[in-house]
Amino acid sequence: MRQTSVLSLLLLLVLGLVLAGCDSGPSVLVPDGGDRPPPTDPVYFHEDVLPILAEHCLMCHSAGGIAPFELRTYDDAVEVGERMAEATRSRIMPPFVVDASGDCNHYTNARRLEDAEIEVIGDWVAGGMLEGDPTTPVPPTVTLPTLDRVSSTLDIGVQYEPDHSITDDYRCFVVEPDWTGIKYITGADVRPGNAEIAHHLIVFAPVSAAEGARARRLDGSDGRPGYQCFGDAVVTALPVVLWAPGAGAQRYPEGTGIQLDGSVPLIVQMHYNLLADNGEPDRTHVDLTLEDRVDTEAWMGLVADFGLEIPPRMPSFTNEYEGNIAFGPGGAYRVWGAFPHMHTMGRQLRVEAMDAASTCMVDVPRWDFNWQGAFWYQTPIDLEPNQPMRLSCTYDSMERDGTTYWGDSTQDEMCLSFFYVTRR
Ligand code: HEC
Repeated sequence: MRQTSVLSLLLLLVLGLVLAGCDSGPSVLVPDGGDRPPPTDPVYFHEDVLPILAEHCLMCHSAGGIAPFELRTYDDAVEVGERMAEATRSRIMPPFVVDASGDCNHYTNARRLEDAEIEVIGDWVAGGMLEGDPTTPVPPTVTLPTLDRVSSTLDIGVQYEPDHSITDDYRCFVVEPDWTGIKYITGADVRPGNAEIAHHLIVFAPVSAAEGARARRLDGSDGRPGYQCFGDAVVTALPVVLWAPGAGAQRYPEGTGIQLDGSVPLIVQMHYNLLADNGEPDRTHVDLTLEDRVDTEAWMGLVADFGLEIPPRMPSFTNEYEGNIAFGPGGAYRVWGAFPHMHTMGRQLRVEAMDAASTCMVDVPRWDFNWQGAFWYQTPIDLEPNQPMRLSCTYDSMERDGTTYWGDSTQDEMCLSFFYVTRR
């Protein structure tokens, strides 16, 4: 498998990537470590806790946000006080699956509480959740990033009626670019039509005009808009946008962008999760920022173990793989961000460069299929030419009776990370 041809590598890659989908099971909380003594100084909701929530929580935990409940008022917060203390102490909230402590990179899009902030929430709960002075001025809620400029909008073109008889409908929509010639994507924002069910989105660029033509032929072939693409884009294609709810706009690192050919259609893969089905259709739009040229062309490189095999009935099985970043021209790379991926048996993932410093590329201490996404470095990482990488993925296979292999279905697994790469 590791000496596979470029074409089948691409195909496998695409198969794999698309299951960067999302599950919808609830997060599991790490149990509270025991009773906490009351704090010596009283901690108040309005003075001490609400500023933390405004900065780190309310962009999701507000009316119309993606979280299932609000944390805006004292009453809201008291109702879930214990759970807030637990979810923050265990770093389940705010959701950000990679280690952003600085042990393995700092991230520009990190959602992370300082230890002192976690203490404040814990102390507030332990101290009896005191209200304080409701007239205390509230700092403005931090909002999600937006694009400075929208050059083009990908429109799936229909009010898509998802298959209401299943839990997860994966559908690919073929969208013709409204530009001609070569452009570079430097940013993207997703506007879900029906936010209740639009659970995850990937925009794929077919690797050639022929693959784009194949996508056009698939479009509508089953009598419905788009085509079914459960585990992949079906045609050979690479991701150019990866989106999960709550991320806001993605702005690619300054001066960089990924090439898009206006004559080749793009494929918008939607994952509709119908657990909270409201019976409404969806028409999602993807806003793009495009440039005619960029200083530095970027591409999605990949470290993946296509030979993955996970034995059954193991509470913790770690798969180790060594290899180079696939795709790209070779030579010395600069890496700007990581996009790790496993399915639902995944528990931990780590990628290290096999250099003298064992440079940590990405570390996921507690994988959560629901919160995968793009993780952008504060400081890009420069690699030696053709730098080998070590990738390790840990799984819980207790629920499985047989060996689990690499594959695109929910019963299969993956062990990979994409990287946003330029030349040095
Ligand atoms: C990016 C969006 C987002 C942000 C930011 C966020 N949450 Fe959440 N939160 C969610 C969603 C969505 C859920 C529902 C469970 C899930 O999908 O993981 C949730 C669930 C929770 C839960 C319930 C967990 C449980 O299983 O009982 C608590 C408590 C919570 N959030 C507190 C917070 C606090 C406190 C903050 C800020 C420090 C915060 N959240 C920041 C989206 C967010």
